[in-house]
Amino acid sequence: MKLLVTGGAGYVGSVTSRLLLDAGHEVTVLDNLVTGFRSAVAPEATFVEADIADAAQVLTPGSGFDAVLHFAGLIAAGESMTKPEKYWHDNVVKSLALLDAVRAAGVPRFIFSSTAAVYGNPVELPITENAVKAPTNTYGATKLTFDHALTSEAFAHNLAAVSLRYFNVAGAYIADGHEIGERHDPETHLIPITLQVAAGKREKLQIFGDDYPTADGTCVRDYIHVQDLARAHLLALDAATAGEHRIYNLGNGNGFSNRQVVEVAREVTGVELPVEIAPRREGDPATLVASSALAREELGWVPEKNTLQAMISDAWSFYRSHVA
Ligand code: UFG
Repeated sequence: MKLLVTGGAGYVGSVTSRLLLDAGHEVTVLDNLVTGFRSAVAPEATFVEADIADAAQVLTPGSGFDAVLHFAGLIAAGESMTKPEKYWHDNVVKSLALLDAVRAAGVPRFIFSSTAAVYGNPVELPITENAVKAPTNTYGATKLTFDHALTSEAFAHNLAAVSLRYFNVAGAYIADGHEIGERHDPETHLIPITLQVAAGKREKLQIFGDDYPTADGTCVRDYIHVQDLARAHLLALDAATAGEHRIYNLGNGNGFSNRQVVEVAREVTGVELPVEIAPRREGDPATLVASSALAREELGWVPEKNTLQAMISDAWSFYRSHVA
């Protein structure tokens, strides 16, 4: 297939581009490089440095794209509470412009990076796709809004749309001479921050809150290896059906507390990571654990690298050779 990958210079977009190319697809990456890295773009991909709001430059009528995979977006839940306007603009207004371009160019399929943050504090665990959606942060609200836009688009204009709701993505793609991983500046995610501390780039780790209603009082998240997540996009491309908006949660179904993550990071890195308990971060739900039963059943997706050890050790290996 001829594919447009927005955000292909970012973490999940660059790993997925690698898998798409290896599967024989033709990939064009569209990325404005505001948070992505030119060096993360697969060398075999055509690269267009542009904003998603200007996607019509590439998605011209007759351009013949079979699908758009839309990864580009802002992802820091904490920042979305202090700069919400940025999130509404980038994740909603610009994504709607991308959807206009998709419609005008007659692209039949659309795969969207949605998020567990759409659910907010879950009423029941594990979280299924039908669970109540009550985001506790602006980031989740913007992703949910675009999910709704995709539902209407699919029904009204016969688009084959799939939203993949990622839980907490971790690890790096390390195979066949390729090493592709996570680099954010500034870094806000727990696992890469523990690695920064392990590498001596940061003095200590702050755990945001230890008074949550969880076993050890710290937040619980469901971590998924980026390679497993990327694979789900290829399955979603095959499953996408005209006139339908399918939605799948992607996680392992196991929750790990922030303290447990630090313990495993200590084992993997061999560094005694100094930890300080800090106040809660605004907008953080206590526990997010996925039911991915639907993705297993309808996509045939099975996560393979599902231990925290595997994820943190791949992330550490990437961090030491490419980031530190
Ligand atoms: N945390 C700390 N200290 C830090 C950084 C994070 O204690 O220095 C805590 C957070 O408060 C939270 C947990 O670690 O309790 C995980 O936080 P992350 O920022 O790593 O990830 P989030 O769960 O906030 O969000 C991530 C992605 C979102 C996605 C979400 C789904 O960034 O895109 O997972 O669960 F929607």
